[in-house]
Order: sequence, then structure tokens, then C-alpha cells
Amino acid sequence: MEGARPVTDRLTLDDLPVRDELRGKSPYGAPQLDVPVQLNTNENPYPLPEPLVARIAERVAEAARGLNRYPDRDAVELRTELARYLTRTGGHPVGVENVWAANGSNEVIQQLLQTFGGPGRTAIGFEPSYSMHGLIARGTGTGWISGPRNEDFTIDVAAAEQAIARNAPDVVFITSPNNPTGTAVEAETVLALYEAAQAAKPSLVVVDEAYVEFSHRDSLLPLIEGRPHLVVSRTMSKAFGAAGLRLGYLAAHPAVVDAVQLVRLPYHLSAVTQATALAALEHTDTLLGYVEQLKRERDRLVTELRTAGYEVTDSDANFVQFGRFEDAHAAWQRILDQGVLVRDNGVPGWLRVTAGTPTENDAFLDAVRQLKKEQSA
Ligand SMILES: Cc1ncc(COP(=O)(O)O)c(C=O)c1O
Repeated sequence: MEGARPVTDRLTLDDLPVRDELRGKSPYGAPQLDVPVQLNTNENPYPLPEPLVARIAERVAEAARGLNRYPDRDAVELRTELARYLTRTGGHPVGVENVWAANGSNEVIQQLLQTFGGPGRTAIGFEPSYSMHGLIARGTGTGWISGPRNEDFTIDVAAAEQAIARNAPDVVFITSPNNPTGTAVEAETVLALYEAAQAAKPSLVVVDEAYVEFSHRDSLLPLIEGRPHLVVSRTMSKAFGAAGLRLGYLAAHPAVVDAVQLVRLPYHLSAVTQATALAALEHTDTLLGYVEQLKRERDRLVTELRTAGYEVTDSDANFVQFGRFEDAHAAWQRILDQGVLVRDNGVPGWLRVTAGTPTENDAFLDAVRQLKKEQSA
């Protein structure tokens, strides 16, 4: 019939027999707006250098010749190179048997929750923190517990220990440096929470170090020694400037690596992904050079924001949390009106800006200085 739509077109998500805990929920995702300066998703602003692009093309061409076959299911060459990188930069020797890789650290976290969480089990994080920890918990049927933080966004150790003792969670997330606040966590804090978690359950403690290469402090990687329930998760999305690659990894006791094999999909890491990641690892030194530039830019943002009269949380990441605003969303909009996209993570009074190129950061600083003028007028 002219103009009539088939019944199936009117069907919405609410009409489907989805799991009860997913009803009425929205998918995770920052707005992808087409504006000149995009500083909202903690990406690295520097495109991969041309010699690396050429090397990726070479390695991918090599991989393409074997695409009729499934890839190396255990990604041994890649895990070996990741172990070498961690040993070189993380202050602790690790071998291939300590390392596992997946499509982004989000998938690493998902595999950990599938293995150690799940229905009837719980995970705790200290919020505000990376909201995907709670969302992946939900997706894997794991109950989520929101733990406390201090006013200055550091972890309130005594309160966290109590929350762990009270709830006896199966998985504990500690994000260092933390997203969205930029706050690094002291090794003593991790040790205290690890002890509390072992006394309460024992549970798996996941230290999410997605941003550690930008930190003023050393990696917490050495803490895995002698602690079989401690996992450090990492990513190539930030320091390696390869968010589009989707490559995350973990370091832990070999038994943890064996455990995640129980839930990983066979051949989860494509031959193209493995080849690309290996090419990027060949260029580690160049990529870490960009990290040094970004650390300087991050420190400049902190200083300039404070000079402009904003409150700023000390940052060990490639982003900076600044405020305070009576209405953070209105401030976000005013900055956007000037062509600069930052992130409103829903932390009352605060916004987050990712360190970009010097030109992008100048545009952001102009926008926030202008905002300050408007607000004090
Ligand atoms: C703390 C933290 N962990 C993990 C991730 C996920 O990174 P990816 O899945 O790209 O490795 C992010 C991304 O923003 C993050 O902020």
C-alpha cells in the first residue's frame, strides 16, 4: 500500500526480549561532533609517522598473503614484543607467558569480567572513574558497586578498604592514572586494597594503566610480582597513538593468562591487527617521543588553566580535569560554541580536556579565557 510502512519498521528496542538489566539503557559513547578542535576522547593528536605507516602497509601486505588461514590464535609474536616493551619501560621483567592481548583494553576487561565476574558475582570501582568498567560489568552480568573517593579525587583508602570488606567483591578496579580526573594512585594504596581484597574473598585486582606512559610516576607493573591476583591492563590506544588499531593487553601471573583462554573467542585478534601492532611496536621510540611532547603540553594546560583562574586536578594522564562550574554542561556548550569540543563526563562542576597539539591547546585556552571573562562580567 502507498505510504504504509511494514510493521517491522515500527519495532523498537523496547519491543525486543532484551535482558531486563539492559532495558532503558543507552550505549556508551562521547558525542562525535564535527568541530575544528576535538579534545574530548583522550586520543593522541599526532597521526602515526609516515615511516611507520609504510611499515604497517608492508607488514599487513605480508599478513594478507595468509588471510585464507586463521591467525595465530595465541598471538605469540605480538605478546613476546609486548612483554619486551613492558620489560623495557615498566620497571619489571615480564615474559610472553605473563602477557595477554585483545581488541582494545576494553576487551581485555571484558574477558577478565567474563572469567572472574559474571552472574551472582560483583565488581567494585572507585568513582568517578572510567565508566566502561561498570558498563562492561553490566554487559557480563556482574553486579556493580560504586566505591568512594576523597574530595580531591584521590582514593579514600580507609573507606575503600571498608567497602571491600563489606561487599567482598570478586573484582576490584583501580585506575591509575584515573579517567576522568587524571589522578595517579600510590603503590601503597594498591597494596592496601589488594590485601583488603584478599582478606575479603580473595578477589582479582585489576590496575587499569591505560594512561601510564603519560604519568610523572613509575608504572605499578612491579606489583604483580608475588601477587597472582593482581592484573595490570594497558592499551596501544593512547601512548602509541593507535586508538583505531584496537589493541589492549594485560600483564599478570601466567595462571591469569591461562584463565582468560576459557572465555576468549578463538582467533579473536585478526592477522591484520597483529601485523599492525607489531609494526607500531617497532617504532616505540618515535611514538614515546610524542608522549614526551604531550606531557609538556598537559603540564602547560594545567599551569595556564590555573593562571586563568580555574581549579585543576593534578594530572598524570594526557588530559586535564578543570572547573569548577555551577553548570558544567552550560560551560561545555560555551566552549563548543567557540569550536572546541571537550568532555562533560557528568562529574558535577567539572569538565575534561584532552591534551592536543600546541595549536589545538591554544584554541582551547583562548576559549576558556573567554568563558572566564563572560562568567566574571
Ligand atoms: C581508563 C581507561 N581504560 C581503558 C580504556 C579503553 O581503551 P581501549 O579499549 O581503546 O584500549 C580507556 C579509554 O578511554 C580508559 O580511559
